[in-house]
Amino acid sequence: MTFTPAIRPRRLRRTPALRRLVAETRIHPAELILPVFVREGLVTPRPITAMPGVQQHTIDSVRRAAVEAAEAGLGGIMLFGVPETRDARGSAADDPNGILNAATAAVASEVGDALVVQTDLCLDEFTDHGHCGVLDASGAVDNDATLDRYCATAIAQAEAGSALLGLSGMMDGQVAAVRDALDAAGHHGTGVLAYSAKYASAFYGPFREAVDSQLSGDRRSYQQDPANRREGAREAELDIAEGADVVMVKPAMSYLDVLSDVAAFSPVPVWAYQVSGEAAMIEAAAANGWIDRRGAVLESLTSIKRAGADAILSYFATEVARWLR
Ligand code: PBG
Repeated sequence: MTFTPAIRPRRLRRTPALRRLVAETRIHPAELILPVFVREGLVTPRPITAMPGVQQHTIDSVRRAAVEAAEAGLGGIMLFGVPETRDARGSAADDPNGILNAATAAVASEVGDALVVQTDLCLDEFTDHGHCGVLDASGAVDNDATLDRYCATAIAQAEAGSALLGLSGMMDGQVAAVRDALDAAGHHGTGVLAYSAKYASAFYGPFREAVDSQLSGDRRSYQQDPANRREGAREAELDIAEGADVVMVKPAMSYLDVLSDVAAFSPVPVWAYQVSGEAAMIEAAAANGWIDRRGAVLESLTSIKRAGADAILSYFATEVARWLR
């Protein structure tokens, strides 16, 4: 006799209409944010080998990318700057005419309110040694001296028109310091997006090419150890207490447990960053015909949302938003 189950979960998977109706997680273009790179002195956009489809933009081409992102319905854009000259203190970061601030002003005037214009707030693109802060006499990253540089950079970015400052340097006290500096300068409306749980990850590999990184060595004395889960929640807790408007977990796919932990207690929005190496893995496997590109991209973003992300930074953002239309 054939056994006939009384309970059949497959019933709700029977047709596309049923599956659509019972889906627990959806991706919406408004919760996607596109990271972009703007390089000083470029005449035409330059492709990034390790990131197919991603380029170092000129100011003109980043304006166009921002308009396309807005037309696709994205929630925001995150700008990174690649300066022509670097020094020990990352002087170009808080120079109002520095590439990131100039590009921010250009994009903000182009898109107005159609897109939330955000900026990476860190020194690594601007220092000649490639670290996220300034160094002390022994060559170690000097936490408190770096906070002064972040505060100056925050004012410059706020004045350029950035609505949310993405603090990605993992210095202790960075959220409190920057919040204080913004408020003292009257920028009460400029928000802080804290890259709270940012791990020292091999998945940032392609990003190094994207920003012409000068780093030799690693960031393990300030970014978190991938072995630590509790510490990710603690960093988010501290940033919330220091006044972060949004907290973020980064990378995303290898840290879904941390994301889920933070989402469980956070009273502020929780975002995740699908970083360069995560995109590169999908692109490389798809280029070899080993996985279905579109399926893998959508599954990865769905999984990040399912784990608890309210919004996602992804290099696929504009493309995915168009698929969803
Ligand atoms: C630091 C920063 C990095 C990324 C975003 N902000 C690099 C790092 O910490 O080494 C990585 C993003 C990516 O890999 O896509 N300013």
